Amino acid sequence: MSDITRDMADYYRQRAAYYERVYFKPERQEDLRAMEAWLPTQFTGRRVLEVACGTGWWTPHGARDAAQWLATDLNPETLAVARRKALPACVQFAELDAYSFAQIEGQRFDAAFAGCWWSHVPLARLGGWLQALHARLEPGAQVVFLDNSHVQLSSTPISRTDADGNTYQNRTLDDGSVHEVLKNFPTAEDAIARLGPRARDAQWIAHTHYWVLAYTLA
Ligand SMILES: C[S@@+](CC[C@H](N)C(=O)[O-])C[C@H]1O[C@@H](n2cnc3c(N)ncnc32)[C@H](O)[C@@H]1O
Repeated sequence: MSDITRDMADYYRQRAAYYERVYFKPERQEDLRAMEAWLPTQFTGRRVLEVACGTGWWTPHGARDAAQWLATDLNPETLAVARRKALPACVQFAELDAYSFAQIEGQRFDAAFAGCWWSHVPLARLGGWLQALHARLEPGAQVVFLDNSHVQLSSTPISRTDADGNTYQNRTLDDGSVHEVLKNFPTAEDAIARLGPRARDAQWIAHTHYWVLAYTLA
């Protein structure tokens, strides 16, 4: 793992106990309810791999009508919060580094989901990461990403941009420590252009505080 991806994982490990405060911001509630209602429609009857599930905010919604749902994250601290939730019976958990799908070798999925993960993948790795994910998915698979829109910048501005075009934010944890976190804010055109040759029927939904990208794989 590179330094910036390791630092990001460590930041979320330390933030696990109170990460979900972001989901109680009053101005986000309308978007959240709309996305929570829409998400299960994407995965009915499917075997779903959830990448970087964190504390599992999206897991009960996405998994509601799924056949199987494997919720994964690198950090046992975030997974521990997710495991305590009331969840559909189809949900299982696994510790998994999203940059190495080796641990799920041999398991087949016909859908994938990741919430607030895309924005943290360095741009130089994004195409390769999407290819590696797609390689785990059967033809006809449904893929959904959702993430923060640029409105998030009004509370946490960009601190710098690197040579590859990645943007960064300085985030302060409750203990006062400041962490530089890579956080990108793609446009619809940019995100769709990165999906690669197997992506079909890409749909971009722009909420105020979030974007959603859904597509199927050839
Ligand atoms: C912004 S949080 C998103 C959590 C959740 N999906 C959500 O939308 O609320 C990013 C998550 O990525 C996880 N993470 C960081 N690096 C990872 C990696 N290499 N592999 C898998 N998960 C990772 C962190 O533990 C954290 O839970």
